[in-house]
Amino acid sequence: MAIERTLSIVKPDGVKAGLTGEILKRFESAGLVIAALRMTRLTMQEAQAFYDVHQERPFFESLTKFMCSGPIVVSVLEGGDAIRRNRELMGATDPAQADSGTIRREYASNIEHNIVHGSDAPETASREIGFFFTESDLVRGVRR
Ligand code: CDP
Ligand code: MG
Repeated sequence: MAIERTLSIVKPDGVKAGLTGEILKRFESAGLVIAALRMTRLTMQEAQAFYDVHQERPFFESLTKFMCSGPIVVSVLEGGDAIRRNRELMGATDPAQADSGTIRREYASNIEHNIVHGSDAPETASREIGFFFTESDLVRGVRR
């Protein structure tokens, strides 16, 4: 299985609810390794740049406002099939559609305030990791 890296974000609603530790614990318990980690708060410009693929969507303005409404916790998760496995742990975008036991099903309020972000493909993972981290931020040798 290919070792992948993916970008994860605990969104402002997750941080405000005190769920950062719980969410990171779920990733680690599932065997994903944290290869980089930081807390930050996005400016509106940064939120718009991060979500630029969605700029034509009706929810873009509201989503970008939400994403800079408070601190976020950003991590790089590493492991076999990490991109798909992270999204599996997150659950569907709309918590009402998410499988039981997933992060979004258990904690998210609605389709916008859905607690976590995770990259959706190798190309987006690489772009999104580069948005927050430089190569020297990525710790090596943490894999079990
Ligand atoms: O985050 P995910 O990849 O599951 O979903 P997306 O389709 O890439 O959308 C990015 C984010 O936009 C979602 O996580 C939601 O926070 C938000 N969104 C929304 O507010 N309303 C929608 N109808 C779809 C997405
Ligand atoms: Mg997405």
